[in-house]
Amino acid sequence: MADTERKKVIFSGIQPTGVFTLGNYVGAVRNWGPLQDEYDCIYSIVDQHAITVRKDPAKLRQQTVEGYALLLACGIDPKKSIVFIQSHNPNHAQLSWVLGCVTQFGELSRMTQFKDKAAKHADDINAGLFTYPVLMAADILTYNADAVPIGDDQRQHLELARNIAVRFNQRYGDMFTVPEAYIPKVGARIKSLQEPTKKMSKSDENPNATIYILDDKDTIMRKFRRAVTDSDTEIRFAEGKDGINNLLTIYSCATGKGIPDCEKEFAGKGYGDFKLAVGEAVADYLEPVRTEYARLMDDRAYLKECWTDGAQRAFRMSNKVLTKAYRKIGFVDYR
Ligand code: TRP
Repeated sequence: MADTERKKVIFSGIQPTGVFTLGNYVGAVRNWGPLQDEYDCIYSIVDQHAITVRKDPAKLRQQTVEGYALLLACGIDPKKSIVFIQSHNPNHAQLSWVLGCVTQFGELSRMTQFKDKAAKHADDINAGLFTYPVLMAADILTYNADAVPIGDDQRQHLELARNIAVRFNQRYGDMFTVPEAYIPKVGARIKSLQEPTKKMSKSDENPNATIYILDDKDTIMRKFRRAVTDSDTEIRFAEGKDGINNLLTIYSCATGKGIPDCEKEFAGKGYGDFKLAVGEAVADYLEPVRTEYARLMDDRAYLKECWTDGAQRAFRMSNKVLTKAYRKIGFVDYR
């Protein structure tokens, strides 16, 4: 295949930190499946990143498996894409060492996530937490990824990865693709059900604020019944009606109907009925993910087959890049 026909490569790392929210799903995750036709996608559960804060080993193992199953349940096809667990491919850590030697202490000191996490875990400011962005750069560069889907909180890290790539290329000759941020086309922003001016968050302390994509129907209905609305009575999308706007947005995403159609559908109806309808629609919308997830978690042998195959393909792909980087930097060939 001519080089111009090569599909672009997308790399994405996902922390094994629990279930996605409806907000994650609608804003990002649900687009990952369709993306696989347009790009060569590589998805990794980044367990090596996860240990930069202290983790209970049994919990880490469990969450890594769950995270992996969740990716497949959300429509990532392990035949089309490379889906693997980061620690299964040693090349990330290997390249990370090399890249660390072209990264400045000062640059890493400026990372706002490091500063935040260091403040939060003052008793464990370990070297891994400090060099985390170098490992992230290695994740991306070892596949010569063209694009990286990221949220705002990872922008600074991606910028650093780009700088590292450029610097390496200048010092040792053209080597790495300089990755771009991948900005998804759609992506409605889903807000908290309790404080609809705030983003729906995984770590919200109020259990009624967040829908998780594996919530069962009863839980979903209960949370929507308790969703905050306003003192008005009209179901229309308008300034200052944050609660209703959020529910309309959610209903529109779950049903695929446009907002004006949703407004028409509920004209003259009460908030109570509306909230139930939104709950029903979301439960139906998420049901296939939940069913598929349960099926996968029941078939550990299949999951293991997938991640073993994923690791092998990831290794082969990244090894070409690592070998080349080793050569450029002056390490002696041994094969
Ligand atoms: N740091 C990312 C996060 O916390 C996860 C991550 C690790 C990642 N390696 C990556 C994301 C490479 C994109 C590309 O969400």
